Amino acid sequence: MTAQIIDGNALAKKVREEVAGRTAALKARGIQPHLAIILVGEDPASQVYVKHKVADSEQTGLKATLERYPATMAEADLLARVRALNADASVHGILVQLPLPKHMDTHKVIEAISPAKDVDGFHVASAGALLVGQPGFWPCTPYGCLKMLDSIGYDLKGKHAVVIGRSNIVGKPMAMMLLGRDATVTICHSRTTNLAEFTRQADVVVAAVGRRDVLTAGMVKPGAVVIDVGMNRNDEGKLCGDVDFAGVKEVAGWITPVPGGVGPMTRAMLLVNTIEAAERAAG
Ligand code: GUN
Repeated sequence: MTAQIIDGNALAKKVREEVAGRTAALKARGIQPHLAIILVGEDPASQVYVKHKVADSEQTGLKATLERYPATMAEADLLARVRALNADASVHGILVQLPLPKHMDTHKVIEAISPAKDVDGFHVASAGALLVGQPGFWPCTPYGCLKMLDSIGYDLKGKHAVVIGRSNIVGKPMAMMLLGRDATVTICHSRTTNLAEFTRQADVVVAAVGRRDVLTAGMVKPGAVVIDVGMNRNDEGKLCGDVDFAGVKEVAGWITPVPGGVGPMTRAMLLVNTIEAAERAAG
């Protein structure tokens, strides 16, 4: 059996079209949805990410403003900028690109963002809202994974979902979203002994560890859905996920590729959160 591929590029295109429609509707009411992005320092990967975020926003009709500051910026000045954006009614979403320079307290900066504008979903209030099932903003990567499951019409109720990874921005929120859909959820991580014992029972596996070949063919139940959040490089320097794609696709029922899977969906869900923030503000 060869798994069906869940095409993240195609789905992200559809999501962007939906966002563009919602953006046009707000613009017709005289409201310009606006995402403010702050980049501190010169991290090369961060520069590429924010460039994509600005381009994606503009492509869907959202206004994106990028504020760039030197790595030597004082934390107090960054906090002041965040607070100014909180108070600016023309700004609907605020994103502070991570990582921040070492002299800054990332948690403190994230907590300074108004939860109403926290389109990354990293604020403690956003995490708490997800935990208790209240409206908030969901982190873009797990939200994108959930959208991918929805795109194949997968009913999670009563299914066993195994999440590999326990980060605050992927593993933990992913587990909560799956639980919210009535899945039975197991969270595995780097200290889990005999990972295969868990994954072999799983109807859905989400791999979010950041290490290649975490999930191989022998660890997967035939027909399972496999979502690969990983972004690694193989020995030839090519982008690859956490899953041994070539092997696992022969066992799984559905699988997401890397590249072209979760990555484009993460980008698309930021736009969804931003238009959502603007709609909520508009009432
Ligand atoms: N750095 C890498 N990914 C992200 C992200 O999704 N949001 C922010 N703010 N910083 C990042």
